[in-house]
Amino acid sequence: MLVLGIESSCDETAAALVRDGVDIRSSVVASQVAVHHPYGGVVPELASRQHIRAIVPVVNQAIAEAAVEMEDIDAVAVTQGPGLVGSLLVGFSFAKSYAFARNIPWIGVNHLEGHIHSVFLTENPPEFPFVALLVSGGHTNIYHVTSPTRAELMGQTRDDAAGEAYDKVAKMLGLGYPGGSVIDDLAAEGDAESIIFPRPYLDKNYYDFSFSGIKTAVNRHIQLHPATGHAEQADVAAAFQAAVVDVLVHKIIHAAVDKKCRHLAVVGGVAANAGLRKAVNQECAVHDIASHIPDIQLCGDNAAMIAAAGYHHLKQGRRSDLADDVYSRMKH
Ligand code: KG4
Ligand code: ZN
Repeated sequence: MLVLGIESSCDETAAALVRDGVDIRSSVVASQVAVHHPYGGVVPELASRQHIRAIVPVVNQAIAEAAVEMEDIDAVAVTQGPGLVGSLLVGFSFAKSYAFARNIPWIGVNHLEGHIHSVFLTENPPEFPFVALLVSGGHTNIYHVTSPTRAELMGQTRDDAAGEAYDKVAKMLGLGYPGGSVIDDLAAEGDAESIIFPRPYLDKNYYDFSFSGIKTAVNRHIQLHPATGHAEQADVAAAFQAAVVDVLVHKIIHAAVDKKCRHLAVVGGVAANAGLRKAVNQECAVHDIASHIPDIQLCGDNAAMIAAAGYHHLKQGRRSDLADDVYSRMKH
Protein backbone atom coordinates (compact mmCIF):
# COMPACT_ATOMS: atom_id res chain seq x y z
CA MET A 1 0.00 0.00 0.00
CA LEU A 2 1.48 3.33 -1.10
CA VAL A 3 0.53 5.99 1.46
CA LEU A 4 0.84 9.74 1.02
CA GLY A 5 1.76 11.23 4.41
CA ILE A 6 1.06 14.87 5.24
CA GLU A 7 2.38 16.77 8.27
CA SER A 8 1.70 20.41 9.16
CA SER A 9 1.31 20.47 12.96
CA CYS A 10 3.86 23.18 13.71
CA ASP A 11 6.49 24.90 11.60
CA GLU A 12 7.31 22.26 9.00
CA THR A 13 5.22 21.55 5.91
CA ALA A 14 5.95 17.96 4.95
CA ALA A 15 4.78 15.30 2.50
CA ALA A 16 6.10 11.79 1.95
CA LEU A 17 5.34 8.63 0.05
CA VAL A 18 5.88 5.44 2.02
CA ARG A 19 5.15 1.90 0.91
CA ASP A 20 3.77 -0.59 3.49
CA GLY A 21 4.78 1.54 6.49
CA VAL A 22 8.52 0.95 6.07
CA ASP A 23 9.82 1.87 2.62
CA ILE A 24 10.35 5.62 2.12
CA ARG A 25 9.97 6.50 -1.56
CA SER A 26 10.24 10.25 -0.92
CA SER A 27 10.17 12.60 2.06
CA VAL A 28 10.02 16.36 1.59
CA VAL A 29 10.22 18.76 4.54
CA ALA A 30 9.86 22.52 4.00
CA SER A 31 11.09 24.25 7.13
CA GLN A 32 9.69 27.63 8.19
CA VAL A 33 12.64 28.47 10.43
CA ALA A 34 13.52 31.53 8.34
CA VAL A 35 9.95 32.88 8.71
CA HIS A 36 9.89 32.61 12.51
CA HIS A 37 13.55 33.29 13.30
CA PRO A 38 13.18 37.09 13.61
CA TYR A 39 10.49 36.57 16.29
CA GLY A 40 12.46 34.11 18.44
CA GLY A 41 9.75 31.45 18.24
CA VAL A 42 6.89 30.11 16.12
CA VAL A 43 4.23 32.72 15.31
CA PRO A 44 1.03 30.65 14.77
CA GLU A 45 -0.62 33.01 12.28
CA LEU A 46 2.51 33.17 10.12
CA ALA A 47 2.87 29.40 10.34
CA SER A 48 -0.65 28.80 8.95
CA ARG A 49 -0.08 31.17 6.06
CA GLN A 50 3.24 29.58 5.21
CA HIS A 51 1.66 26.09 5.24
CA ILE A 52 -0.94 27.33 2.76
CA ARG A 53 1.82 28.56 0.43
CA ALA A 54 3.87 25.39 0.77
CA ILE A 55 1.43 22.48 0.87
CA VAL A 56 0.75 21.99 -2.86
CA PRO A 57 4.38 22.43 -4.02
CA VAL A 58 5.59 20.12 -1.23
CA VAL A 59 3.12 17.36 -2.15
CA ASN A 60 3.98 17.74 -5.85
CA GLN A 61 7.67 17.47 -5.02
CA ALA A 62 7.09 14.31 -2.95
CA ILE A 63 5.21 12.72 -5.88
CA ALA A 64 7.90 13.76 -8.36
CA GLU A 65 10.77 12.50 -6.18
CA ALA A 66 9.08 9.15 -5.69
CA ALA A 67 8.67 8.96 -9.48
CA VAL A 68 5.06 7.80 -9.17
CA GLU A 69 1.79 8.97 -10.68
CA MET A 70 -1.11 10.37 -8.65
CA GLU A 71 -3.04 7.17 -9.50
CA ASP A 72 -0.40 5.05 -7.72
CA ILE A 73 -1.28 6.57 -4.34
CA ASP A 74 -3.55 4.16 -2.45
CA ALA A 75 -4.36 6.16 0.69
CA VAL A 76 -3.59 9.34 2.65
CA ALA A 77 -2.42 9.67 6.27
CA VAL A 78 -2.39 13.14 7.83
CA THR A 79 -1.51 14.60 11.23
CA GLN A 80 -4.73 15.38 13.11
CA GLY A 81 -3.17 16.63 16.38
CA PRO A 82 -1.75 17.68 18.75
CA GLY A 83 -0.33 20.91 17.38
CA LEU A 84 -1.27 24.42 16.31
CA VAL A 85 -4.88 24.33 15.13
CA GLY A 86 -4.42 26.78 12.26
CA SER A 87 -1.40 24.83 11.02
CA LEU A 88 -3.01 21.42 11.43
CA LEU A 89 -6.07 22.59 9.49
CA VAL A 90 -4.02 23.26 6.36
CA GLY A 91 -2.66 19.72 6.05
CA PHE A 92 -5.86 18.12 7.32
CA SER A 93 -8.12 20.00 4.90
CA PHE A 94 -5.73 19.28 2.04
CA ALA A 95 -5.74 15.55 2.88
CA LYS A 96 -9.53 15.44 3.14
CA SER A 97 -9.99 17.15 -0.22
CA TYR A 98 -7.32 15.08 -1.95
CA ALA A 99 -8.74 11.77 -0.70
CA PHE A 100 -12.30 12.85 -1.50
CA ALA A 101 -11.41 13.95 -5.02
CA ARG A 102 -9.57 10.71 -5.74
CA ASN A 103 -12.04 8.58 -3.78
CA ILE A 104 -9.32 6.82 -1.76
CA PRO A 105 -9.22 6.04 1.99
CA TRP A 106 -7.64 8.49 4.41
CA ILE A 107 -6.82 8.52 8.13
CA GLY A 108 -6.01 11.18 10.74
CA VAL A 109 -2.87 10.30 12.71
CA ASN A 110 -1.70 11.34 16.15
CA HIS A 111 1.56 13.26 15.75
CA LEU A 112 3.17 11.53 18.74
CA GLU A 113 2.32 8.09 17.41
CA GLY A 114 3.92 9.28 14.18
CA HIS A 115 7.18 10.08 15.99
CA ILE A 116 7.22 6.57 17.48
CA HIS A 117 6.88 5.14 13.97
CA SER A 118 9.96 7.01 12.75
CA VAL A 119 11.95 4.18 14.32
CA PHE A 120 10.38 1.65 11.90
CA LEU A 121 11.78 3.60 8.98
CA THR A 122 15.33 2.63 9.96
CA GLU A 123 17.25 -0.43 8.79
CA ASN A 124 17.18 -1.95 12.25
CA PRO A 125 13.69 -1.50 13.74
CA PRO A 126 12.91 -2.57 17.33
CA GLU A 127 11.04 -5.74 18.27
CA PHE A 128 7.83 -5.57 20.31
CA PRO A 129 7.45 -4.88 23.15
CA PHE A 130 9.84 -1.95 23.54
CA VAL A 131 9.99 1.29 25.49
CA ALA A 132 10.17 4.61 23.66
CA LEU A 133 11.39 7.99 24.83
CA LEU A 134 9.70 10.74 22.82
CA VAL A 135 11.60 14.01 23.23
CA SER A 136 10.43 16.96 21.16
CA GLY A 137 9.68 20.65 21.41
CA GLY A 138 6.24 19.99 22.87
CA HIS A 139 6.53 16.62 24.64
CA THR A 140 8.75 14.47 26.82
CA ASN A 141 6.99 11.12 27.15
CA ILE A 142 7.91 7.53 27.94
CA TYR A 143 5.80 4.79 26.32
CA HIS A 144 5.55 1.04 26.58
CA VAL A 145 4.89 0.06 22.98
CA THR A 146 3.29 -3.37 22.50
CA SER A 147 2.12 -3.29 18.85
CA PRO A 148 2.21 -0.90 15.85
CA THR A 149 -0.98 0.76 17.12
CA ARG A 150 -0.66 0.36 20.92
CA ALA A 151 1.50 2.56 23.15
CA GLU A 152 0.85 2.96 26.87
CA LEU A 153 2.01 6.27 28.35
CA MET A 154 4.28 5.53 31.36
CA GLY A 155 5.32 9.08 32.20
CA GLN A 156 5.57 12.62 30.87
CA THR A 157 6.92 16.04 31.72
CA ARG A 158 5.05 18.03 34.33
CA ASP A 159 6.29 21.36 32.99
CA ASP A 160 8.64 22.13 30.09
CA ALA A 161 9.39 19.63 27.34
CA ALA A 162 13.07 18.80 26.87
CA GLY A 163 13.21 20.61 23.50
CA GLU A 164 11.46 23.62 25.01
CA ALA A 165 14.14 23.76 27.73
CA TYR A 166 16.82 23.66 25.01
CA ASP A 167 15.12 26.49 23.13
CA LYS A 168 14.74 28.61 26.29
CA VAL A 169 18.35 28.12 27.38
CA ALA A 170 19.50 29.03 23.87
CA LYS A 171 17.47 32.22 24.15
CA MET A 172 19.04 33.03 27.55
CA LEU A 173 22.47 32.65 25.98
CA GLY A 174 21.43 34.87 23.07
CA LEU A 175 21.85 32.04 20.56
CA GLY A 176 18.58 32.57 18.68
CA TYR A 177 15.82 30.18 17.65
CA PRO A 178 15.56 27.22 17.38
CA GLY A 179 18.27 26.49 19.88
CA GLY A 180 18.53 22.73 20.26
CA SER A 181 21.18 21.99 17.68
CA VAL A 182 23.16 25.18 18.51
CA ILE A 183 23.42 24.15 22.19
CA ASP A 184 24.30 20.60 21.08
CA ASP A 185 27.24 21.87 18.98
CA LEU A 186 28.40 24.29 21.69
CA ALA A 187 28.17 21.59 24.36
CA ALA A 188 30.76 19.53 22.48
CA GLU A 189 33.31 22.29 23.10
CA GLY A 190 32.49 22.93 26.78
CA ASP A 191 33.33 21.32 30.12
CA ALA A 192 30.23 19.50 31.38
CA GLU A 193 31.58 19.41 34.93
CA SER A 194 32.38 23.11 35.16
CA ILE A 195 28.90 23.77 36.61
CA ILE A 196 26.59 21.23 38.24
CA PHE A 197 22.95 21.86 37.41
CA PRO A 198 20.22 19.92 39.27
CA ARG A 199 19.01 16.52 38.06
CA PRO A 200 15.36 16.22 39.06
CA TYR A 201 14.55 12.50 39.30
CA LEU A 202 11.20 12.83 41.17
CA ASP A 203 10.29 9.97 43.54
CA LYS A 204 6.58 9.73 42.95
CA ASN A 205 5.38 8.96 39.43
CA TYR A 206 8.93 7.96 38.69
CA TYR A 207 8.63 8.18 34.90
CA ASP A 208 7.54 11.81 34.97
CA PHE A 209 10.00 14.59 34.17
CA SER A 210 10.51 18.19 35.24
CA PHE A 211 12.83 20.51 33.34
CA SER A 212 11.78 23.91 34.65
CA GLY A 213 14.17 23.62 37.64
CA ILE A 214 17.19 23.03 35.39
CA LYS A 215 16.13 25.96 33.21
CA THR A 216 15.77 28.25 36.26
CA ALA A 217 19.17 27.14 37.58
CA VAL A 218 20.76 28.00 34.23
CA ASN A 219 19.06 31.40 34.29
CA ARG A 220 20.31 32.10 37.84
CA HIS A 221 23.82 31.02 36.87
CA ILE A 222 23.85 33.33 33.85
CA GLN A 223 22.67 36.25 35.95
CA LEU A 224 25.45 35.69 38.48
CA HIS A 225 28.11 34.88 35.88
CA PRO A 226 27.14 36.49 32.55
CA ALA A 227 28.27 34.04 29.87
CA THR A 228 29.54 36.57 27.36
CA GLY A 229 32.54 34.73 25.93
CA HIS A 230 32.41 31.66 23.71
CA ALA A 231 34.16 29.44 26.28
CA GLU A 232 31.75 30.38 29.10
CA GLN A 233 28.77 29.81 26.82
CA ALA A 234 30.13 26.41 25.84
CA ASP A 235 30.53 25.44 29.51
CA VAL A 236 26.93 26.43 30.32
CA ALA A 237 25.69 24.51 27.25
CA ALA A 238 27.72 21.42 28.18
CA ALA A 239 26.63 21.47 31.84
CA PHE A 240 22.97 22.01 30.87
CA GLN A 241 23.08 19.22 28.29
CA ALA A 242 24.73 16.85 30.77
CA ALA A 243 21.92 17.43 33.31
CA VAL A 244 19.14 16.90 30.76
CA VAL A 245 20.78 13.84 29.18
CA ASP A 246 21.48 12.23 32.59
CA VAL A 247 17.81 12.39 33.55
CA LEU A 248 16.50 11.24 30.15
CA VAL A 249 18.88 8.30 29.90
CA HIS A 250 18.41 7.20 33.51
CA LYS A 251 14.62 7.06 33.14
CA ILE A 252 14.37 5.35 29.78
CA ILE A 253 16.87 2.67 30.82
CA HIS A 254 14.91 2.06 34.04
CA ALA A 255 11.68 1.87 32.06
CA ALA A 256 13.20 -0.80 29.80
CA VAL A 257 14.47 -2.78 32.80
CA ASP A 258 11.12 -2.46 34.67
CA LYS A 259 9.14 -3.60 31.65
CA LYS A 260 11.72 -6.29 30.84
CA CYS A 261 12.16 -4.91 27.33
CA ARG A 262 15.26 -5.84 25.34
CA HIS A 263 14.64 -3.00 22.88
CA LEU A 264 14.49 0.74 23.41
CA ALA A 265 13.77 3.64 21.04
CA VAL A 266 14.46 7.36 21.26
CA VAL A 267 12.44 9.58 18.89
CA GLY A 268 11.48 13.24 18.35
CA GLY A 269 13.44 16.39 17.55
CA VAL A 270 15.74 16.11 20.59
CA ALA A 271 16.68 12.55 19.54
CA ALA A 272 18.96 14.33 17.04
CA ASN A 273 21.08 15.44 20.01
CA ALA A 274 24.61 14.05 19.75
CA GLY A 275 25.13 13.90 23.52
CA LEU A 276 21.84 12.04 24.04
CA ARG A 277 22.49 9.55 21.21
CA LYS A 278 25.93 8.73 22.58
CA ALA A 279 24.77 8.34 26.19
CA VAL A 280 21.76 6.16 25.23
CA ASN A 281 23.94 3.87 23.12
CA GLN A 282 26.52 3.57 25.92
CA GLU A 283 23.99 2.78 28.66
CA CYS A 284 22.09 0.36 26.43
CA ALA A 285 25.32 -1.54 25.84
CA VAL A 286 25.93 -1.74 29.61
CA HIS A 287 22.40 -3.13 30.20
CA ASP A 288 22.41 -5.39 27.13
CA ILE A 289 19.49 -3.53 25.56
CA ALA A 290 19.26 -2.92 21.80
CA SER A 291 19.01 0.82 21.17
CA HIS A 292 17.14 2.25 18.17
CA ILE A 293 17.43 5.92 17.25
CA PRO A 294 16.26 7.10 13.80
CA ASP A 295 18.53 8.93 11.36
CA ILE A 296 18.71 12.64 12.19
CA GLN A 297 16.39 13.70 9.31
CA LEU A 298 13.66 11.43 10.73
CA CYS A 299 13.95 12.78 14.29
CA GLY A 300 12.42 16.18 13.56
CA ASP A 301 8.92 16.58 12.16
CA ASN A 302 8.40 14.80 8.85
CA ALA A 303 5.58 13.15 6.93
CA ALA A 304 7.19 9.73 6.42
CA MET A 305 6.54 8.89 10.08
CA ILE A 306 2.89 9.94 9.68
CA ALA A 307 2.50 7.72 6.60
CA ALA A 308 4.13 4.83 8.51
CA ALA A 309 1.79 5.17 11.50
CA GLY A 310 -1.27 5.70 9.30
CA TYR A 311 -0.52 2.59 7.25
CA HIS A 312 -1.19 0.30 10.25
CA HIS A 313 -4.52 1.94 11.05
CA LEU A 314 -5.58 1.81 7.40
CA LYS A 315 -4.55 -1.85 7.21
CA GLN A 316 -6.77 -2.56 10.21
CA GLY A 317 -9.67 -0.97 8.33
CA ARG A 318 -9.85 2.34 10.20
CA ARG A 319 -10.96 5.40 8.20
CA SER A 320 -11.45 9.06 9.02
CA ASP A 321 -14.59 10.89 8.10
CA LEU A 322 -15.14 14.22 6.32
CA ALA A 323 -16.79 15.50 9.52
CA ASP A 324 -13.63 14.84 11.60
CA ASP A 325 -11.70 17.82 12.94
CA VAL A 326 -8.17 18.53 14.18
CA TYR A 327 -7.30 18.71 17.90
CA SER A 328 -4.74 20.97 19.54
CA ARG A 329 -3.98 18.95 22.66
CA MET A 330 -3.43 15.30 23.46
CA LYS A 331 -6.63 13.22 23.55
CA HIS A 332 -6.73 10.86 26.55
O1 KG4 B 1 9.96 16.87 16.98
P1 KG4 B 1 10.23 18.29 16.66
O2 KG4 B 1 10.84 18.61 15.32
O3 KG4 B 1 8.92 19.14 16.78
C1 KG4 B 1 7.96 18.94 17.77
O4 KG4 B 1 7.07 18.05 17.55
O5 KG4 B 1 8.07 19.61 18.81
O6 KG4 B 1 11.16 18.85 17.84
C2 KG4 B 1 11.66 20.17 17.83
C3 KG4 B 1 12.56 20.36 19.04
C4 KG4 B 1 12.97 21.81 19.24
O7 KG4 B 1 12.73 22.18 20.58
C5 KG4 B 1 14.47 21.79 18.92
O8 KG4 B 1 15.22 22.75 19.63
C6 KG4 B 1 14.84 20.40 19.37
O9 KG4 B 1 13.76 19.59 18.94
N1 KG4 B 1 16.11 19.93 18.77
C7 KG4 B 1 17.20 19.59 19.48
C8 KG4 B 1 18.21 19.25 18.55
N2 KG4 B 1 17.68 19.38 17.30
C9 KG4 B 1 16.39 19.80 17.45
N3 KG4 B 1 17.40 19.58 20.81
C10 KG4 B 1 18.62 19.19 21.24
N4 KG4 B 1 19.63 18.86 20.41
C11 KG4 B 1 19.48 18.86 19.07
N5 KG4 B 1 20.50 18.51 18.26
ZN1 ZN C 1 7.06 16.58 16.42
